Amino acid sequence: MIYPIVKYGQEVLNKVAAPVTVFDEELEKLVADMFETMYAAHGVGLAAPQIGLSRHFCVIDTTVSEQEKGAKLVLANPVIVAVEGRQVHEEGCLSLPDFRAETPRPLKATVRAQDVHGKEFTVTGEGLLARAFCHETDHLNGKLFIHHLSPLKRESIKRKIRKLTKAGDW
Ligand code: NI
Repeated sequence: MIYPIVKYGQEVLNKVAAPVTVFDEELEKLVADMFETMYAAHGVGLAAPQIGLSRHFCVIDTTVSEQEKGAKLVLANPVIVAVEGRQVHEEGCLSLPDFRAETPRPLKATVRAQDVHGKEFTVTGEGLLARAFCHETDHLNGKLFIHHLSPLKRESIKRKIRKLTKAGDW
């Protein structure tokens, strides 16, 4: 099932999501639906609050080519435990469609999380994967990429969204 994606302005995106405590078939189904929703929207990551669920899990797949399939990652209750270096690249978010901005992130990030069955694991990502770990973990803590921009840039994006909202286009 493909869910509608919640856009910036909805309260669920500003909240710290509730921890995942039950690893059951319902969670497996939600994870499958979130991958489906993410692929349909051409995203590389999606957090539960973006489908309106304040629950601490997200899905990630930063691969772009067919050959690299199998890189699906499910992170339940993820915590960034180590970061290294710095990168600045354009970043976007499915909850802020059409807005992209040069966003600073660590070059490498190590995340500790649980998989869909509750098994704990640690994984390190570099480049785009590190960016996705940070971006999705932020979502689960009620933060969006615009939090990492200069106040000027952030206000400019917010102003444009207010205009779109007024016009009924958001
Ligand atoms: Ni996002």
